[in-house]
Amino acid sequence: MCGIVGYLGEGQAYPILIKGLKRLEYRGYDSAGLAIHNGESVRFYKKKGKVAKLEGIAEDAPKEGSLGIAHTRWATHGEPNDVNSHPHVSQSGRFFIVHNGIIENFSSIKEALKMRGYTFQSETDTEVLVNLIEDIFEEGNMSLERAVQAALNQVNGAYAICVIDLHNPDMMVVARIGSPLVIGLDNGNYFVASDATPFLEYTKQAVYLEDGEMAVLHRGSKLQVFTIASNVEVEPYVHQLTMDIADIEKGGYEHFMLKEIYEQPRSIHDTLRGRLLAEEGKIVMRGITEYQHKFQNADRIIIVACGTSWHAGLVAEYIFEELVRIPVEVEYASEFRYRNPVINERDVIIAISQSGETADTLAAIKLAKSKGATIFGVCNIVGSSIARESHAGAFTHAGPEIGVASTKAFTAQVAVLTLMALKIGQEKGNLPKTQYLEYLHALSQIPQQIERVLACNDENMMKIAHEYADVSNFLYLGRGVNFPVALEGALKLKEISYIHAEGYPAAEMKHGPIALIDENMPVVIIAQQNANYEKVVSNAQEVKARKGKIIAIVNPGDEEMRKLADHCIEVEKTYELLSPLLTTIPLQLLSYHIAVLRGCNVDQPRNLAKSVTVE
Ligand code: AGP
Repeated sequence: MCGIVGYLGEGQAYPILIKGLKRLEYRGYDSAGLAIHNGESVRFYKKKGKVAKLEGIAEDAPKEGSLGIAHTRWATHGEPNDVNSHPHVSQSGRFFIVHNGIIENFSSIKEALKMRGYTFQSETDTEVLVNLIEDIFEEGNMSLERAVQAALNQVNGAYAICVIDLHNPDMMVVARIGSPLVIGLDNGNYFVASDATPFLEYTKQAVYLEDGEMAVLHRGSKLQVFTIASNVEVEPYVHQLTMDIADIEKGGYEHFMLKEIYEQPRSIHDTLRGRLLAEEGKIVMRGITEYQHKFQNADRIIIVACGTSWHAGLVAEYIFEELVRIPVEVEYASEFRYRNPVINERDVIIAISQSGETADTLAAIKLAKSKGATIFGVCNIVGSSIARESHAGAFTHAGPEIGVASTKAFTAQVAVLTLMALKIGQEKGNLPKTQYLEYLHALSQIPQQIERVLACNDENMMKIAHEYADVSNFLYLGRGVNFPVALEGALKLKEISYIHAEGYPAAEMKHGPIALIDENMPVVIIAQQNANYEKVVSNAQEVKARKGKIIAIVNPGDEEMRKLADHCIEVEKTYELLSPLLTTIPLQLLSYHIAVLRGCNVDQPRNLAKSVTVE
């Protein structure tokens, strides 16, 4: 939920920290701060607001130094203000910390420290942690790394931390449980961050700390990694990152979200590449092959996810039940993990997560795993916690998704889930060979079809966006596999334009929502000419009869809907089960343009963060 950056090397820390924070602002931007050690003293600056505010106060201030830590915050404990911003400093002024996560037992620790004479400036759990480290350090007369380790063995919760010592300008201690932390290695220079984007331009050698690990960085020395619980040294695995800096820049687009919408032909192509061999009539997915028996013999498949990823799971429910003929349940991870679900070893759990760090989804699979279920992860970030917690998985190769509103990750998730269903269904014998081959061919056409569907980003789209930019409510209707697309379209609109929007199964209109319809209510209706087309037309007539404004997502040549709708946006035809990969595109663009017209911050909507790593 927050972003942390650290640097220990030969260069100046400040520019690396500031640029790194900007790369991580999508993780939270309530406040920002940094601390830099210049060899004699530590100067630290922190400010409510975005990184640009921090830059403003640091502009003319001294900031030399080659050791530093930095933080951009999404507030959990204590409102967004200067004093609650990170870094936090221990009472003596010796230790500085930045922290991403939540210390759940901070109140009891705070009371104990108060009894020992500590006072606190902020409301944060992080300030408690840095004083606990100091208290143990002073009492135990031990090294900083041992004091950090002892403190972390007393806390419950999730954390990724960087700690520096006023008395030692040549070291940094980092540690993580539940929140991500990756270390960049560059010939003795060390970078630390919540993900690799802050140091990608400097090095592609990265160590993803495992849950329950800490590392001690000494200037110019070899990286040392230990287990927090038992202080056992472990050999770190050095990843060679494949991301490029261009992937995380805007590339000429006004917003990351628009760039990522336009990247979907490539991100789907990359996601299918090496897996969909349409010419050979094959799907190659090692994770599925290794766990084919688990899928074949599963009593049911349970999909756990949050937000947009949950919508991808709903799409997958239709696809799996049609092609694999195994019961599928789709669960909000946050509900699943607390309702004491009935799980056994014949269950397969599919966890869907772009970030691979969503706390509720991670907790849900840990619960299911503890009850013997098989966990299959569909994530976008290599080395992420959910990916590592899963028995097997398939990555969506969508590339870094910087915009908080998920777009290309969603369609990449649907593409992976479709591949999975086709492969399992075919190997289970449910899918006749001809139908299987037809699906493979149709799926191979999707990247080019998305390319053509993007042409809907035209004056017609802009006219619709202008006409409805100031409304207060929107309804989205869809049937079958496009019902989850209606939900996704509504979520896109509300999370970036702040307009209230609801998605509904089109047939549900008669059971209440139709009372909302009047001349002020725009209704997006996904009308694809497949199984339930006539019924969708009837729903459109019901809306029309009550003067609702209809924005229809139609196939080319659909004259019937054109007569009914106030606006039409064309989407090429494909198999019904594949249509969400196309019908989602205009809904992403519509929400984007409306949000821009409303002057909203499209890439960093208010109150949101890209990765919800707290519960
Ligand atoms: C989607 O636009 C939102 N940013 C949000 O709902 C997101 O999908 C959700 O938080 C799940 O994130 P994850 O895919 O990283 O687990």
